[in-house]
Amino acid sequence: MIEKIEKLKQEIAALQAGSPEEAEALRIKYLSKKGEITALMNDFRNVPAEQKKEVGMRINELKTIAQEKIAQLKAEASVQAAAGPAVDLTRTPYPIPLGTRHPLTIVKNEIVDIFSRLGFTLAEGPEVEDDWHVYSSMNFADDHPARDMQDTFFVESRPDIILRSHTSSVQARVMESQQPPIRVICPGRVYRNEAISARAHCFFHQVEGLYIDRGVSFTDLKQVLLLFAQEMFGPETKIRLRPSYFPFTEPSAEMDISCHLCGGKGCSFCKHTGWVEILGCGMVDPAVLEANGIDSTQYTGYAFGMGIERITNLKFQVKDLRMFSENDIRFLDEFTSAN
Ligand code: DAH
Repeated sequence: MIEKIEKLKQEIAALQAGSPEEAEALRIKYLSKKGEITALMNDFRNVPAEQKKEVGMRINELKTIAQEKIAQLKAEASVQAAAGPAVDLTRTPYPIPLGTRHPLTIVKNEIVDIFSRLGFTLAEGPEVEDDWHVYSSMNFADDHPARDMQDTFFVESRPDIILRSHTSSVQARVMESQQPPIRVICPGRVYRNEAISARAHCFFHQVEGLYIDRGVSFTDLKQVLLLFAQEMFGPETKIRLRPSYFPFTEPSAEMDISCHLCGGKGCSFCKHTGWVEILGCGMVDPAVLEANGIDSTQYTGYAFGMGIERITNLKFQVKDLRMFSENDIRFLDEFTSAN
């Protein structure tokens, strides 16, 4: 009996309670009518007479110890419960890992932003287009090679429905629904049937610009493109226009910027010319204005188009076009600070 009392004493000294409920459960276990200490007291009558005095004292002592210990556990547990969970609510939170914008989105936003500040508004058109908006309304001859299967993706069973191969189709969409003055910037995805390599892909992104009003001249075009180049690549950037040909503009030009890596001195990036090509542009051909319901005796306009991948490569020196669509998180993470 004495052994049992001593064992219980040790057990009770080590008791713990995480909540007032747990402390109450301990009271029931040891001190209730069916509790272990009560059971000891019930056994007291079987203790031989000569031991009764000592055993009695020890049982009473055990009961007092148990009552005090459990009361103490109850008190501590209720203080803790009132204080709430054991966390430090003043601690600075763990940083939430932020995703990054795709580099093409970063550059597209920057281009759109620059032209918005010059008064251009955003316009968009469908990626699945008809031949009229992509080619005919843009003054492409019926036998123009761009319509060829080599270049254009056709939607099965509909020879007149295609995936647009340039964002110039949005020019036609805007002109048919709006009269001048028109000043729009049109970013979007385009598709061409090309073998995928580091330098070519079957889809990429372009931004188209269109400005039509009375008296718009080539000088206006040149000035706006110079402002754009300097905003995008730095105030010391120079531009150079070379004569070119597009069916929808006359005259047409291609624009180079001074190589911003070598400052125009010549390096491997600009193939030692000091210049890199960034866009095509020109005065909207009167035939395009007429085809889209705009009076070419009253209005003139300019247009330009550039590849977003190209601008992104120039800004961030991405060597392989395929990186843009592989969704490799290590590549995307490199642009966190450019966001
Ligand atoms: N659509 C042309 C292309 O995909 C780019 C372009 C050139 C757009 C000249 C224009 C422009 O608006 O004036 O290569």
